Amino acid sequence: MKYTQKVIDHFRNPRNQGKINNADAVSEKGNPACGDVMRIYLKIGENDDKKIIEDIKFETFGCAAAIAVTSILTEMVKGRTLEEALQLNKDEIVKELGGLPAQKIHCSMLGVDTLHEAIKQYQNKN
Ligand code: FES
Repeated sequence: MKYTQKVIDHFRNPRNQGKINNADAVSEKGNPACGDVMRIYLKIGENDDKKIIEDIKFETFGCAAAIAVTSILTEMVKGRTLEEALQLNKDEIVKELGGLPAQKIHCSMLGVDTLHEAIKQYQNKN
């Protein structure tokens, strides 16, 4: 299995890794088949009357692709509106990483699901 340089970079130097104390939403999702687990923390802010992702952090216990996916997705949605972040899909993440091996595409799916779950959790509460 071959990873792109970008995947390896995000795996070795994950961006926005960690927790947010007093997060506005926290979601956790796992894939029972591979055992990987992702957790995403969101801090929501406002810009021009629109809700935006002011801060986002993650903790991922899993494979290199899962870590790279959560790392890059935090960069992709930070500062974006909740609506924009809800439109992010796995293909954009895979493209941004320069590709993922076929058996690792589900890692990008898990990342998107975990992000969307956190946003919906926030929307349901507010
Ligand atoms: Fe399952 Fe990476 S191998 S999320």
